[in-house]
Amino acid sequence: MDQIRIRGGRPLSGEIAIGGAKNAGLPLMAAGLLTDERLVLTSVPQLADIATMATLIAQHGVAVDKATNDGRSLSIGGAITNTEAPYDIVRKMRASVLVLGPLVARAGEARVSLPGGCAIGTRPIDLHLKGLEAMGAVIRLDGGYVHATAPQGLRGATYVMPFPSVGATENLLMAATLADGQSVLANAAREPEITNLAECLVAMGARITGIGSDRLTIEGVKRLHGASHAIIPDRIETATYACAAAVTGGTVKLRGGRLADLGAVVRSLDEAGVDISEEADGLLVRRLNGLRGVDVMTEPYPGFPTDVQAQFMVAMAVADGASMVTETIFENRFMHVPELNRMGARINVHGASAIVRGVRALSGAPVMATDLRASVSLVLAGLAAAGETVVNRVYHLDRGYEAVEQKLAACGASIERAAA
Ligand code: UD1
Repeated sequence: MDQIRIRGGRPLSGEIAIGGAKNAGLPLMAAGLLTDERLVLTSVPQLADIATMATLIAQHGVAVDKATNDGRSLSIGGAITNTEAPYDIVRKMRASVLVLGPLVARAGEARVSLPGGCAIGTRPIDLHLKGLEAMGAVIRLDGGYVHATAPQGLRGATYVMPFPSVGATENLLMAATLADGQSVLANAAREPEITNLAECLVAMGARITGIGSDRLTIEGVKRLHGASHAIIPDRIETATYACAAAVTGGTVKLRGGRLADLGAVVRSLDEAGVDISEEADGLLVRRLNGLRGVDVMTEPYPGFPTDVQAQFMVAMAVADGASMVTETIFENRFMHVPELNRMGARINVHGASAIVRGVRALSGAPVMATDLRASVSLVLAGLAAAGETVVNRVYHLDRGYEAVEQKLAACGASIERAAA
């Protein structure tokens, strides 16, 4: 299993190209199940999760082809010949559940393995199922699978989401495009990835209003057609490298990064002493002086993203003063804390909050990655620490960060991948 070895203490300086967003690419690939014609996606990141979604879609019988030699464009489309999403794929990647809505909407049925728990919490899919039931699907659970049927097709419905779940909003939005009549998704999530998906669906012939708001209205159509659509730049990757510049005290240009998509991250970094300015082709991130402790609380977009909590905590670990980091989206998302403490951080967790007392410096150590964002936070800690840090179990990192060691090395970091 690969390791990442880092010798810390060097400020980052240079340019990093931000890739297409994993969390936009996954639902967009599932949207390819909604039509017989070809959906061409561009700016596709090269990540393990994208490859897993390609495998899943292909085993439904729908072709997933590289549309260009560089592998950055995918062409998806064809007849659905199998409506089952097997446990072996779903257990690897929870986002597999995004095929549920498109399969029921187009094929009238789906059997999708329940994803089960994951490192950061139990993560049920009850809202996905309740929304589909509101659209007339009959849902049965058997043998660890969700079996959803709608032989006469789905019908439009109003569903008020008890919580703005990202995945449920995406699944129900896709399903509603082919339902009979009008659907309203109220208290919907409004992450930029959902806007990206909605715009693609419109390009495929869907009729959606309220895009970007928490109330999506969908007039169902009989069929969708092919389209070509670009995946947005990854706001989580952008925020991650902004935090890397913050912890190392460097100046980094994030090519393709978009300020508007960062939501509350910009304000929190600004309060911590990090300047982010928009340029014609990206963002310039500079740490002006020392870092200051700032309290943050994770919330649905445009609040502070849970997917940046671990990375921001590393900045707080080396900031002047104390801060409180509160996690409201997932119940078990502080697994990076014991590892950071092994590197000399002073962090105490009390329920959903972590009290971070800034220290002057971290020291390198062997550490273990537990999930995607925790892994990258350990890389960031390694960049800030004195001495060598070895991050183990980097397969987590490869699910969501493309060429992380090359991108950081190009900015002067001493970082390499080694086979353990
Ligand atoms: C997506 C992102 C993930 C991010 C998360 C929150 C993708 C592929 N993944 O995950 O990176 O961390 O949004 O921004 O885009 N919940 C329920 N019932 C449901 C659905 C969700 O209780 O039916 C709960 C979850 O357990 C969790 C919370 O709602 O505690 C947020 O989940 P959700 O917004 O659905 O996240 P995902 O779509 O799984």
